[in-house]
Amino acid sequence: MRLCVTGGAGYIGSVVAQALLHDGHDVTIVDNISTGHLSAVPEGCRFVRGDIRESGTLTDAFGTDTDAVLHFAALSIVGDSVSRPLDYFDNNIGGTVSLLQSMKTHGVKKIVFSSSAAVYGEPERLPIVETDVCRPSNPYGFSKFAVEQMLEASRVAWELQYVSLRYFNAGGSTTVHGEDHNPETHLIPIVLDVAAGRRKSFTIFGDDYDTRDGTCLRDYIHVYDLADAHIRALSAMEHAYSGVLNLGSENAFTVAEVVSAVERVTGMKVKYEIGPRRPGDPPALLASSKQAERVLGWKKRRSSLDEIIRSAHEWRLEHPDGYPS
Ligand code: UFG
Repeated sequence: MRLCVTGGAGYIGSVVAQALLHDGHDVTIVDNISTGHLSAVPEGCRFVRGDIRESGTLTDAFGTDTDAVLHFAALSIVGDSVSRPLDYFDNNIGGTVSLLQSMKTHGVKKIVFSSSAAVYGEPERLPIVETDVCRPSNPYGFSKFAVEQMLEASRVAWELQYVSLRYFNAGGSTTVHGEDHNPETHLIPIVLDVAAGRRKSFTIFGDDYDTRDGTCLRDYIHVYDLADAHIRALSAMEHAYSGVLNLGSENAFTVAEVVSAVERVTGMKVKYEIGPRRPGDPPALLASSKQAERVLGWKKRRSSLDEIIRSAHEWRLEHPDGYPS
């Protein structure tokens, strides 16, 4: 297929783009490199540098014949979204309005969307299923939920086909691609940096939650398994499927348990202190991925916490300063 990957220079987008190339697809990446990395763009992709809020960029990216879009381009940090909500609405909601308008104009009628467990907010029960109430507790989650509404409205209005994949906490690396944000705010890369001595210590945001040890509970899923789900989502749309699907490992770990796992996997000690809660953090997230298994025939293969940490650690050892550009 001829595919356009927005945000393909980012963490998850670059892993998926690489997997699509490997599967024999023709891939064009469009990315403004505001948070992504030029050197993360996989060799063999066509690359259009620009912003999806500019229709000229999208016209260039779509060319004459695009079969589907995989849409990753977004701001994606929960805490950051609480501080600057309008930037999140502009990028994530405004960017997707522009993307969908261009898709409609160019007759591109299939999209896989990078959604998030953040749409649920503070869930009423665990594990979370797709039909549970969505009440996002931060602007980032709200922006993802708003896009899901746009996708469904576009399905009704102009027969857009979509698969919205609600990722839980993505982690891990492939041999080529890994996690490199600036500044880094995600738990696993931060804890790995402490273990490797690149940071002195880190702060656990709150130990007074109603969880087994008081720290937040999250469901970590390997980027490799996420990539596999995207490829399967493209096939599902070929069979006329549209809908939303959770992607998680169905195992949840507290922040303190992640720290212990990093110490176990790396053999190194992690220093931390306890700080206040981080605004916008839900106490606990845990997926039911049964629907994705049924619809996509998807099975997680690499999403044990140890494998996520091991692969992320390995990538970090090989790329101590992250991507070169
Ligand atoms: N945490 C700390 N200290 C840190 C960093 C994180 O205690 O220095 C805690 C957070 O409070 C949270 C957990 O570790 O409880 C995980 O935090 P991350 O920042 O790694 O990830 P989030 O759960 O905030 O968000 C991630 C993605 C979102 C996505 C969400 C879905 O960044 O895009 O998972 O579950 F929406």
